[in-house]
Amino acid sequence: MVDIQWILGVEPSQLPSEWREAVQDLFLQETGEAYADVSVSSLPIPAWEGNMLLVDMKLYPDPLALKGLLWSLPFLDHGVRIAAFAIRSDLQGMGWGSKAWNHLMAAARTEQKIFVQLEVKAANIRAQQFYRVRGLEVKTHLENYYQSGLGFMMKGPIPQIRTSK
Ligand SMILES: CC(C)(COP(=O)(O)OP(=O)(O)OC[C@H]1O[C@@H](n2cnc3c(N)ncnc32)[C@H](O)[C@@H]1OP(=O)(O)O)[C@@H](O)C(=O)NCCC(=O)NCCS
Repeated sequence: MVDIQWILGVEPSQLPSEWREAVQDLFLQETGEAYADVSVSSLPIPAWEGNMLLVDMKLYPDPLALKGLLWSLPFLDHGVRIAAFAIRSDLQGMGWGSKAWNHLMAAARTEQKIFVQLEVKAANIRAQQFYRVRGLEVKTHLENYYQSGLGFMMKGPIPQIRTSK
């Protein structure tokens, strides 16, 4: 597994088209969401510490190297919004998601962000559990956000570093 690692991504519009296809496939397989190429390329994700791709360096630069991603963006003055977060099923439950989450929280803290929010399908209990354990709560029910049914907006604080006593 030493070949698998998180790397920083470029803006979606700057990804090679074969990589955008790999992103579309990842979203479809792991979240059930079908995104058109234009929808992927127009996602307003800057190149920053909250734009991460999980890649298998053995396969890189082939787009088959893409094993996951976490795409987030600064949101309002003090927030971060996660627009997409998915790991290939064969690599789920191994700590890769937590690693990216922790990296994002540290980066967000550096940028003086105080909250994180995202949208998740109501049926996606496993992802909600991942977010609940990390301090997020359902704030809003989203009736018309997902074609497949109800969604939730979840939100929580960016953990601040505790000073030791
Ligand atoms: C949600 C997701 C990004 C988490 O990433 P991950 O790499 O699987 O997470 P980790 O291995 O770091 O595990 C984190 C936690 O989830 C649990 N978990 C993750 N995958 C699991 C699985 N397949 N089965 C059971 N538990 C699982 C772990 O036990 C762990 O517990 P903790 O939260 O108490 O620490 C990933 O599972 C995923 O891509 N899911 C499908 C796509 C999706 O639902 N995305 C979110 C859309 S909003």
